[in-house]
Amino acid sequence: MSRGRLITLEGGEGAGKTTAIDAVVRCLEGHGRSVHRTREPGGTPAAEKIRGLLLDPATGALDPLTELLLMFAARRENVVGSIEPALAAGQDVVCDRFTEASHAYQGGGRGLGPAPVEALGGLVHPDLEPDLVLVLDVPVEVGLARIRKRGDAPDRFEGDRVDFLERVRRTYLERAAARPDRFVVIDASQAPDAVRGAVVRAVEKALLPGAEGAP
Ligand code: TMP
Repeated sequence: MSRGRLITLEGGEGAGKTTAIDAVVRCLEGHGRSVHRTREPGGTPAAEKIRGLLLDPATGALDPLTELLLMFAARRENVVGSIEPALAAGQDVVCDRFTEASHAYQGGGRGLGPAPVEALGGLVHPDLEPDLVLVLDVPVEVGLARIRKRGDAPDRFEGDRVDFLERVRRTYLERAAARPDRFVVIDASQAPDAVRGAVVRAVEKALLPGAEGAP
C-alpha cells in the first residue's frame, strides 16, 4: 500500500480555513482517496488539552519559547498518535495548521525567528514534511472583521495586536515565496465559492495529476 500525502492548511485569523478544508476533503474523497482530517494544536485527547491551555485568554501572556514548546508538545502527540498512523495506512491527511503556523506565529509574530522552529521540527517530526501547504491569505483587518461578525469571543491569538498579526501574515507570504514547489497562496478575500474553486485546483494540480478540470 502506498503512503498517504500530508496536506496542511494555513493562514491568519478569519481566513476561512474551515470552508477550504471542507473543499480539500471533498475533492480528495471525490477522487477515491481515504482522508483523515485533524487540526493543530490538537488532534488527540492530550493535544486538545494543550490546545485549551494555549487558546484560553485566561492563560495570559506566555514566554514565546514556552508557547512554541507547547505547540510542539501538542504536535508530537498528533504526529505519533494520529498523522503517522494514517499516512502509513495509506490515508491522505488534511491538517488544519502544522509547523508553518509555528514559523508564522512564534517565529515571525513573536519574533523567535526560524532557528528554534527548525530545531524542534527536526526533533518532533524528522521525516515528515507536508506534500502541499495551502496558505489562505487575507488582509489582517478583513480577517478580524469576519471574526467580529461571527460574534464569538476572541481566543488568545485572535485578541492579539494587529502588528503581531501583520508579522504572522508577512512570514507566511515570505516562506511561501521561497518554496513555490510546496506552497500555494490562495486569495481568501474572494467569495467562498471562488476560494473553494482555487483550493480544488491547487490540490488537483499538486496531488492528482490528470484530474485537473475533471468533474
Ligand atoms: P485555529 O486553528 O482555530 O485558527 O487556532 C489555533 C491558533 O493557534 C491560531 O491562532 C494560530 C495558533 N497557532 C500558533 O500560534 N502556532 C502553531 O504552531 C499552531 C499550530 C497554531
